[in-house]
Amino acid sequence: KTISNREEKERVADIISSMVKEGEIIGVGSGSTAYLALLKIARRMKNEQLHIRAIPTSQEIRMACVRLGIPVTSLWEHKPDWTFDGADEIDTEHNMIKGRGGAMFKEKLLINSSPRTYIIADPSKIVTQLGSRFPVPIEIFPEALTYVEEVLRAYNPKEIKLRMAKGKDGPVITENGNLILDAWFDHIPNNLEESIKSITGVIESGLFIHYDVHIIS
Ligand code: A5P
Repeated sequence: KTISNREEKERVADIISSMVKEGEIIGVGSGSTAYLALLKIARRMKNEQLHIRAIPTSQEIRMACVRLGIPVTSLWEHKPDWTFDGADEIDTEHNMIKGRGGAMFKEKLLINSSPRTYIIADPSKIVTQLGSRFPVPIEIFPEALTYVEEVLRAYNPKEIKLRMAKGKDGPVITENGNLILDAWFDHIPNNLEESIKSITGVIESGLFIHYDVHIIS
């Protein structure tokens, strides 16, 4: 019998919620898998009277925390004890593409600020080659659009697209007021994350190469 995507997401979300301990400050990632884990954490908090605070990686997940009655805090006030997040693609070396939801800057900040990060991913996220299904999302300062595109071409992308908003005219504007370029690559060398980051106008990319994360799949 084939196990559905939803069941797989539920399973990894259960593992995360079982790891939560009283008093912890937890970095909360974005996406449907992270949301499922958050639901389960909220249930445990209620049933077991646990006092947990969340540092959200996006406005969506911040709103979800508020609705679920999970107090939120920020990186100004607290360092997370640990963070959990989802991913769009994970290769055999645990390199990742994230940022389908456009929150990769804050997600990377949380991961780098946390002593431990767990990535929850149903098996459909595991790929042999990074970039086979998802583009590399790159958040850019709006007026740097022309310049960043020009410099990016040197890295031989198959295609570069400005991410457009659904249900609204015009491009996606991130929570930080920036644009997103989605760049498709045939091959993603290990230094591509650094190369992209070094372009003036790039805020952050959704490439996570050699991050010390624990994959729960
Ligand atoms: C959000 O910006 C992404 O990095 C998410 O982690 C990713 O899109 C995972 O979402 P799902 O759990 O819905 O697949």
